[in-house]
Parts: sequence; structure tokens; C-alpha cells
Amino acid sequence: MSKRILVIQGHPDGSEPHLCHALANSYSEGATDAGHVLRQINLAELDFPLLRSQKEWEHGQLPASLKQAQDDIAWAEHIVFFFPLWLGDMPALLKGFLEQVARPDFAFKRGEGDSPWGKKGLTGRSARVVVTMGMPAIVYRWYFRAHSVKSLERNILGFVGIAPVHETLIGMTGNIKPEDAAKWLGKLRGMGFKGE
Ligand SMILES: Cc1cc2nc3c(=O)[nH]c(=O)nc-3n(C[C@H](O)[C@H](O)[C@H](O)COP(=O)(O)O)c2cc1C
Repeated sequence: MSKRILVIQGHPDGSEPHLCHALANSYSEGATDAGHVLRQINLAELDFPLLRSQKEWEHGQLPASLKQAQDDIAWAEHIVFFFPLWLGDMPALLKGFLEQVARPDFAFKRGEGDSPWGKKGLTGRSARVVVTMGMPAIVYRWYFRAHSVKSLERNILGFVGIAPVHETLIGMTGNIKPEDAAKWLGKLRGMGFKGE
């Protein structure tokens, strides 16, 4: 069945192509071939300030440059994130984006006493997180316990109701061999085709 899929390209550098871009392109090609409907957000192209306070988060205006992003998230049935691991975590640009868009009356429904944390606001959506990294993926998964990806899955996506979330961890990207890159591009194309 055809799905509405939102690709969020979280690589902060849009000035030259990176593995994250090739992976997202393969995913999108597979998804398009299967008849899924796609939208894409390129964080490198968005200009927005960092959120500075809870007051601003609860009562301030969403930056106008992020309005379309919220509409795209609301529209999507499945969201696929692509980003490189930076200092053990998602790049600050992606974290800053999520802090801005995950606001009350959107990512959360207000609860008792106007609490902004009342209920999850984005239930009914699934996600995939695709992360590239310099270290072997097995080291990140088993030695570091994939802590930042788990945090994204549980404390951010799960917190607003996005589940299930699957992950694809791609290691040793510093000098990736063409045949390994091709293998990953093929895998991502297959995931796109299946809409997962
Ligand atoms: C600022 C910065 C921090 C990084 N931190 C990590 C890290 O903590 N662990 C890791 O395995 N790789 C780290 N890397 C390597 C990137 O994850 C790797 O270069 C990326 O996945 C490959 O994409 P790119 O080179 O096309 O951007 C870091 C790279 C940069 C630029």
C-alpha cells in the first residue's frame, strides 16, 4: 500500500554531496518506484534560530521558515531521518530543528492545567533513522550501546508518539569502499521500495 513518506536530510553540509545524500536519494528512488508519495526536508537549506527558553517553546511563534516542516511532519505516515554521527550524537542542526518543531499543540497535546506535556501529538507515524559514522557500526551498537540513537528513538520520537522506529547504522564511512557504498545504496533502495 502506498505511504506518505517524509525524508529529513539532517546532514548540515549542503554544499557538496555526502554519503547521507546518496543514501537518501536511493531510498527515495526505491520509494518512488513503489508508488509511495514523498516529501523531503533538507536541513542544510533551512535558516532558523536555536530555541532559547521554555517560555518561547510554549508561547512563542514557530519561526516562519519551519512552518512547512511542521506541515510535512503532520502530513507524513513514515519519517526517515538521515544524519552523520557527530561527537557521538546527531548534529546540532538536527537537534536544534527538533527542539523548534516539537512544540505544544503540535508534537504534544495540552493536558490538565494547560500542561504542554499532556499527550503525545504525533501518534500514528512510524520512522527510520539512518546514521553514518566513522567508527565500525558494531562498536557504536555494542560498546557505546547506540546511546544517542536510542535517545532519539525513545526520548524524542517515542515521546511524541512516533513508533515503531527502526534504525540503520552504517560504519567506517571515512574511506568507504565503492562496493560497500553500493551495497548500502541497494539496501536503502529496497527499504524505500517497501516503505519501511
Ligand atoms: C564534527 C564531527 C564529529 C564526528 N564525530 C564522530 C563520532 O563521534 N563518532 C564517529 O564514529 N564518527 C564521527 N565523525 C565522523 C562522521 O560520522 C563521518 O565522517 C560521517 O558519517 C561521514 O559522512 P561525511 O564525511 O560525508 O560527512 C565525526 C565527524 C565530524 C565532522
